[in-house]
Amino acid sequence: MVASEAAPFAKAGGLGDAVSSLANSLSALGHDVRVLLPLYSIIPQDLRQSFQPLSGAFSIHLRREHWARLWEFISSDNLRYYFLEYDHFFFRDRLYDGPYGAFEDNPQRFAFLCRAAIDLPEFLQWTPDVYHVHDWMAALVPVYLETVARRGQLEHVGSVLTIHNLQHQGYAHRSIIDYAGLPWDLWRPDKLEACGCVNFLKGGIYFANKLTTVSPTYAEEIRTAALGCGLADVFSFRGGDLVGILNGIDDSLWNPATDQTLPANYDANDLNGKNRCKVDFCRQCFGDEKVNGPPLFVAVSRLYPQKGLDVLGDILSWVVETMDVRFAILGCGEWQLEEQLASIARRFPDRIWFYRGYDEILAHRMTAAADFFVMPSRFEPCGLTQLYSMRYGTLPIVRATGGLKDSVVSNAQGVEHATGFVFYDLTHQALYDAIGWACATYYDRPGDMLTMRQNGMRRDFSWKQSSQRYLDCYHWAMEKKAN
Ligand code: ADP
Ligand code: GLC
Repeated sequence: MVASEAAPFAKAGGLGDAVSSLANSLSALGHDVRVLLPLYSIIPQDLRQSFQPLSGAFSIHLRREHWARLWEFISSDNLRYYFLEYDHFFFRDRLYDGPYGAFEDNPQRFAFLCRAAIDLPEFLQWTPDVYHVHDWMAALVPVYLETVARRGQLEHVGSVLTIHNLQHQGYAHRSIIDYAGLPWDLWRPDKLEACGCVNFLKGGIYFANKLTTVSPTYAEEIRTAALGCGLADVFSFRGGDLVGILNGIDDSLWNPATDQTLPANYDANDLNGKNRCKVDFCRQCFGDEKVNGPPLFVAVSRLYPQKGLDVLGDILSWVVETMDVRFAILGCGEWQLEEQLASIARRFPDRIWFYRGYDEILAHRMTAAADFFVMPSRFEPCGLTQLYSMRYGTLPIVRATGGLKDSVVSNAQGVEHATGFVFYDLTHQALYDAIGWACATYYDRPGDMLTMRQNGMRRDFSWKQSSQRYLDCYHWAMEKKAN
């Protein structure tokens, strides 16, 4: 696998969780899985201590030759991570952006990662059956495989590209073609060119043997003009090779029965520990210890338009003025949205709590403490936080899009199998109604609440089925390359 993120080493969102949990599950099935990542300086020191340097300088053949170093880490499941050390690109405080927006040299940084992935087998004297590459940052790997690396050691190696988020495509000035050492005949609208720029992801979509995205509904949505982000036509062309596979979650990290970050543990048969998590959290944020206090709604998210939390921000004061509820929100991202949420929280300190930042432990505690998890996404390729919520007996309130639609069973269809609340239009009224509906269920139908909590906790969100579907994709890709 080639990726720009993998938890716990480096993570900006769900991509990091998805890459490492899928790799772990394949490795646990006995496959020889190796993951190439940049050696970012932000990788925590306690993790770096167990990396081992590989001997020899590693040469990377962009148009010019570059020399780098490789480090290796082998997990308890025998999963091998290779970390590419090249400080000029990866010694930075953040993964993709600084105070003035995305790093200007992101195309060079990730072309470098992709070319390193192509040169790695020769260095290791080990050839994979298939490259599984994630998002635009790794999308040049299939481009190299089908062009300059078409002959030789990698001739029969297949490629699978997974799109975690089509919104980010990796646009670059066309001079990147020279930098990357790619041939100029790729400068065509049916290869790398898009709107006068190079588009990494488009290139990957044209050249990968198999394409996947992270939920069946999103696989359909990206073929439409509305959610195709300018590439709907490309998906019509490659549509036969595109499948949607719902992400799983890492049950060893997200399990309320064993989660060490919680003040109390619990499972579907005994939810007492969940009450304690709520009481403990509310004491810290709102300063009281009511056991049967108002329902607690939480959101843990990147704060970007994708997530629709601006719509929540717009109606929050209306909600807390008309319903007896509490909100706790953890997130960071766009300054304007952070400010909007911070200012409402200041107006209603006993009802709304907002923490501006990124905090993994808090994310676990809030997911356990909450009654409801709010996700009004404009689009959502898969979404992991609604899966974590259901695992923790917290009912998601989601907009019916992408993976949210595929993973949450609405209580509008009866409570028997329901795991949450689903609404359709991203309007103030529709979100207000969904919150009101959840609030009424909390106060008037505690039996339904319990049934839905238990339904979610008992669902299987592991990688068991999805990793099998990825294995099928790897076989398709390998067969394609064998012929
Ligand atoms: P996305 O990848 O689009 O951000 P996902 O739901 O797939 O959405 O994954 C988000 C991941 O990032 C989850 O693991 C979530 O807990 C984590 N996360 C998002 N924002 C924060 C935050 N502010 N603090 C801690 N974890 C966060
Ligand atoms: C992206 C998507 C998110 C998905 C995650 C992991 O960040 O925005 O919906 O869950 O990737 O696949």
